[in-house]
Amino acid sequence: MSETIDFTPLTAADREPIARLLHRALVHWYESRLGQGERFGDSHDPFTLFPDVYEALDPGECVTARTASGEIIGVCFSHERETHVAIGIVATAPDAGGRGIAKNMVSLVLVKARRLGKPARLVSSLLNLDSFSLYTRLGFVPGALFQDMLITVPGNGLLAAAPTGIEQVREAVWADVPRLADFEQALQGIRREKDFTCFIRNEIGAWRVLVSEAADGSVNGFLAMSIHPSCTMIGPGVAADEKTALRLLWKALDGLRDKTLVFLVPCAATTVVRSAYAWGARNVELHVAQSTAPVTGAKGIVFPTFLPESS
Ligand SMILES: CC(C)(COP(=O)(O)OP(=O)(O)OC[C@H]1O[C@@H](n2cnc3c(N)ncnc32)[C@H](O)[C@@H]1OP(=O)(O)O)[C@@H](O)C(=O)NCCC(=O)NCCS
Repeated sequence: MSETIDFTPLTAADREPIARLLHRALVHWYESRLGQGERFGDSHDPFTLFPDVYEALDPGECVTARTASGEIIGVCFSHERETHVAIGIVATAPDAGGRGIAKNMVSLVLVKARRLGKPARLVSSLLNLDSFSLYTRLGFVPGALFQDMLITVPGNGLLAAAPTGIEQVREAVWADVPRLADFEQALQGIRREKDFTCFIRNEIGAWRVLVSEAADGSVNGFLAMSIHPSCTMIGPGVAADEKTALRLLWKALDGLRDKTLVFLVPCAATTVVRSAYAWGARNVELHVAQSTAPVTGAKGIVFPTFLPESS
């Protein structure tokens, strides 16, 4: 890079330029590589939700790249959690690509993670060799595979009847926050209580959280979802087994009638995947969990998301 680029935190004033950058970078990349730019719509407005959510969770943690004149040409969403540092969407302005900007931004997050003694985690697209390579060159190791499934929920609900045991699923309440965090930590080895606090406090009006309880009252699954008009998406969530995952997913979709949305499910969760096909879902992308220090022995069925990233 010949010109000077500054790598600085995101501020409240960056909301609009960041939304424009995200929209432009995603449309450009997906249109030029896959002919799928239309997936991201024709307005940057919905993308203001990303800086809004991240700044509500962890003000000042995301990294931007700026030219000497102050133009934002890169962003890397990130935040520190109890057990790890999570990385969300990374984007470089199309005309600034290939100059190491994304690498610099992610490297800054990795420096922070090393300083904190925590692994860094993310979920990356398998259709996007640029980002897959960016992360693996920086030391991330791919793990579980997920399929992104697109579904339009009919106005009168899913064609399939509710799975048996659906009565185990209810809306989460404030007292569930530490229970969800404990449950995820026991199964997945990661903890992010602050996210659950943010979802249930719901100041942005973007979230709904379902929880499932076993007969003895213990948590055996939960599923959050973004219900904001700018982004309808299911996740994050974890379930102890496929039956519980299916109940949570059915209940979440049943509450999203007339909506078209994407959810990610583990490719290995064959019962959930087959049910989703039967409900009319179609694959639109593949993602892989990546970490600088994969958790060994993780259990359960995971539903990742991108808002906020849920690695
Ligand atoms: C993906 C994206 C962020 C990359 O940004 P960028 O600033 O152009 O990336 P960089 O210039 O920092 O280069 C990334 C690294 O990946 C490497 N790389 C890219 N493609 C590669 C390949 N096929 N094999 C090996 N390495 C590859 C580059 O060589 C570079 O590493 P190096 O500097 O050690 O050589 C950018 O294309 C973008 O914004 N895309 C749209 C948004 C998006 O899809 N984001 C990712 C998912 S959230």
